Amino acid sequence: MPEENVSVPKHVAIIMDGNGRWAKKRHLPRVMGHHEGVRAVERTVRAARDAGIAHLSLYAFSTENWKRSPSEVGGLMGLFRYYVSSKIDALKAEGARIRFAGNLAALPEDIRQLLRKAEGETASCTAIDMVVCLNYGGRQEILEAINAFLEDRSRNTLSDSERPYLTEELLRRYFYLSDLPDPDLIIRTSGELRMSNFWLWQGAYSELYFCDTFWPDFGEEELEKALRSYAERERRYGGA
Ligand code: IPE
Ligand code: IPE
Ligand code: MG
Repeated sequence: MPEENVSVPKHVAIIMDGNGRWAKKRHLPRVMGHHEGVRAVERTVRAARDAGIAHLSLYAFSTENWKRSPSEVGGLMGLFRYYVSSKIDALKAEGARIRFAGNLAALPEDIRQLLRKAEGETASCTAIDMVVCLNYGGRQEILEAINAFLEDRSRNTLSDSERPYLTEELLRRYFYLSDLPDPDLIIRTSGELRMSNFWLWQGAYSELYFCDTFWPDFGEEELEKALRSYAERERRYGGA
C-alpha cells in the first residue's frame, strides 16, 4: 500500500447511476446498460487500487430498486450471479477483497451462496477492499441495527456500560460492515443530485462529487477528476 496521504480519500463511495439512460441513448434495452456497467466497475476498481484508495464501495441495488419491472430486476439479479461467479479469479489476481453490504437475507438463496463464496475466496486480498452494496438502504441499515441492539438488550447480552442507551459507537457495531470507515468522498454519476438512501449515517461528513457521465462511460479519467476535486477540498467537520 502507498504511504498515507490525506489528499487521497481512504474510502470512496460511488452511486453508479445512468445505466438505463446510457442504453436508451443507443436504443438498447436497459439491461444492456447494466451489462456495460460491469465493465465500468472493473475499470474503476483497478483505477481506485492504483490510486491508493483502500476502500471502494459501489451502490449496485437499492432497497427501492425492487420497484422496477420484473424483467429489469431479473436481469440485474442475473448480472449479480454472473459477476460474482465469474470474476472471483480476476479480483484475486488484482488483489481485491470483495464484501457485500445490504439486506442480503432478502436475496435469492443461490445468490447469497455465491456472495459468501466470493467473500471467502478473496478474504486474504489486501490491495483494495471493494464493498458492493446490494439491496442496500441507509434507512434499512439503521433500522436493522437498532432492532439488533434491542434484541441483544432484551437478551441481556450487553455489558452494564452498554445498557440501556445507544451511542454512536455502539450503533456502528451493528452496521453491515462495522469496520468500514465512513466514506470520505461520495461520487454520483449521470447528473442526478441526490443520495437516494445511500450511506445516510456514514455519509454525514462525506465530500460530494457529481458528474454528468453515465456510469457505463465512467473510468480512470473520471475517477482522477473526482480525486483532484477532493484534494482541493477543506474538510472542517463543523470546526472553525
Ligand atoms: C443505475 O442505473 C443502476 C441501478 C440503479 C441498478 P439506472 O438503472 O438507475 O439508470 P437510469 O438512472 O435509469 O439512467
Ligand atoms: C440509486 O439510483 C441506486 C443505485 C445506483 C443502485 P436510482 O436510479 O435507483 O435512484 P433514483 O431513483 O434516481 O433516486
Ligand atoms: Mg438511476
